[in-house]
Amino acid sequence: MTTAAAVEQRVQTLLETLSLSEKIGQMHQVHAEGAHMVHELHDAVAAGQIGSIINQPDPAAVAALQRIAVEESAHGIPLLVGRDVIHGFQTVMPIPLGQAATWDPELVKAAARVAATQAAAAGINWTFAPMSDVTRDPRWGRIAESFGEDAVLASDLTAAMVQGFQGDDLADPDSIAACTKHFAGYGAVESGRDYATTDVTERELRNYYLLPFHAAVKAGVATLMTSFSDVDGIPATANAFLLSTVLRDEWGFDGLVVSDWDSVRQLAIHGLTDGDKASALAAFNAGVDMEMVGGSFLRYLSELLDDGKVSLAQIDRAVANILLTKFRLGLFEQPYASARPASPESDLRTAHDVALNSAVLLKNAESALPLDATTIQSLAVIGPLADAPHEQMGTWVFDGDRSQVITPLDALRHALPDSVDVHYERALHNSRSLDQTAFDQAQALAHTADTTVVFLGEESILSGEAHSRASIDLPGAQVALVRRLRAASKNLIAVILAGRPLTLTNIVDHVDALLYAWHPGAMGGPAVSDLLLGHAVPSGKLPVSFPRVVGQIPLYYNQKNTGKPPSPEQVVYIDDIAEEAPQTSLGMTAFHLDTDYTPLFEFGFGLSYARFDYCDLTVHTPRLTSSEALRVSVRVRNTGVVDATEVVQLYTRDLVGSLTRPVRELKAYRRVLIGAGESATVTFEVDAQELGFYGRDGTFVVEPGDFHVWVGTSSATTLRASFTLTR
Ligand code: GLC
Repeated sequence: MTTAAAVEQRVQTLLETLSLSEKIGQMHQVHAEGAHMVHELHDAVAAGQIGSIINQPDPAAVAALQRIAVEESAHGIPLLVGRDVIHGFQTVMPIPLGQAATWDPELVKAAARVAATQAAAAGINWTFAPMSDVTRDPRWGRIAESFGEDAVLASDLTAAMVQGFQGDDLADPDSIAACTKHFAGYGAVESGRDYATTDVTERELRNYYLLPFHAAVKAGVATLMTSFSDVDGIPATANAFLLSTVLRDEWGFDGLVVSDWDSVRQLAIHGLTDGDKASALAAFNAGVDMEMVGGSFLRYLSELLDDGKVSLAQIDRAVANILLTKFRLGLFEQPYASARPASPESDLRTAHDVALNSAVLLKNAESALPLDATTIQSLAVIGPLADAPHEQMGTWVFDGDRSQVITPLDALRHALPDSVDVHYERALHNSRSLDQTAFDQAQALAHTADTTVVFLGEESILSGEAHSRASIDLPGAQVALVRRLRAASKNLIAVILAGRPLTLTNIVDHVDALLYAWHPGAMGGPAVSDLLLGHAVPSGKLPVSFPRVVGQIPLYYNQKNTGKPPSPEQVVYIDDIAEEAPQTSLGMTAFHLDTDYTPLFEFGFGLSYARFDYCDLTVHTPRLTSSEALRVSVRVRNTGVVDATEVVQLYTRDLVGSLTRPVRELKAYRRVLIGAGESATVTFEVDAQELGFYGRDGTFVVEPGDFHVWVGTSSATTLRASFTLTR
């Protein structure tokens, strides 16, 4: 008998022994925060009325509750112990959006592995990550938790994070169950306002929002979480098309589906139902197996069974999904945390690696960076985020160990020789402060220093869940601070720590160099210091487009061409309009009069201390069938003076389709280390099936026709060739 069959047998054998009340108890997750909860929950756990607890971070309390479940309940079914371990447990990694800027699945996997090992040691066996919601809206606070705007990159990084959390064996003591969320389409919330309506067509779901979730299922993710938002009028938590038709029937997912926090009872607030009982019915019938807090399953499922509204077979199926997850985790053999030798040094090395490779160099005029510590005698370190350990950890750091955090100020002071005087002025108490009284002092420091590095951005509370912003400028008086420093500085370097793309148009021309570090986590300081001082070379690439102004949103690289695409020849901007200009004289194309139609920085963009020249783009398969692979090669030469890593990117365009197709689509990418003055030939193989899409009737199609293919350093690359899919 196969392992899977044996586990299935164990599930069925156990299921047959459970009473209805014990079955429904497995479907109930309880908020267990607080030492008092061991006592409060004792009887319910012992009676088998709780299948999972969430947010109990104390290992002793977790062990106590687990012991009650295992040793006092009738069937000894262990608890699923859930916690949001989103980007690190005690050792905080860069936020997922920053991790995405590495374009390195192996690094993302390594970071998740560290998080899993640390969380498992505390008795946690279930995390609510990766968040696989792609989004084109940086106003949305949760972009911080996402892998950005592209479904291919997000799919690869989702799979990597799942593998990092779950390891090769979910029953391994260091593995925890992953939970890909929020299924689905959450990243499309209107105006970037969290929890808002998403008006997403099935076609857009299938060709964009669902792709990373499918990647998670193919990677073996143990669980999924429903989204709060409604999807084309039916909230995801009660959406049978998503939870049953797509997830179960089409993708064959056999794990556990959990609601989001009280999202079952919120169905009545959405106006889909008239109360908790109807909400429990709607969510259960759609395909939710476990209710995260709320308690409506526990309260009403038995009645709904008596009413004939649900069947015992349905309940058995949901409970089987829960028990299967527990068996797969090995909880019946090893329900308690197995202490492991702490290895903070290697965990911090991983955090440093990820932070180092996630930072994106957006500007470097006159090679202002790297700084040469041998020629600098004084360095001014200015700004509200230079020495803000809590802020640099970012959102979703419930268990982050602040004592592990090294700030950029600390790191620079440690890294620079005694010959360099480091002067620090916070200038603004926090990122939102409007108090400019310390600006004179900051300006005076900048005036006397050889170089000024200003650390700007967002406090962590300004991003994450329920923290959307209508303006994404630098908050507070930070722009004014840059202007004052510009007036005094010989060399002004800006480092941004933020949880989203910000509109930087108002500072980009006033700084000599601009490094985007996201919220870089515990080792953000040493990573930024290494990059500023040239001990490492920036290699990060943007996983999301940076708009010039918020009014451009949604702005993304893989947009549709429209029937009237803008071009430099066909736009007249507001400052250039003649008085009484004739109505049709400004260019009748898809652009805004008052801003450029391109992003400030495009998807895939990122500078290096080296320069990479691309040539000899060769399509080795100019004509191919849908059962073959596209093979393309290119030569990349490092014309700089330092060894450096480039993320080589391949994009395609389907020129004619039964549906309008994006003007570019990322299909492949590779991080390549190239020595100074050396070159490398990079060859990509792309299965022709990846050129397909979900067509007019919702089925997957690969259509013959002509394609363009680009290879380069970002989505704006102009190095182009062509090929034809013959059938
Ligand atoms: C929150 C979030 C979800 C999180 C869950 C548990 O509201 O939407 O991402 O995992 O509740 O904290």
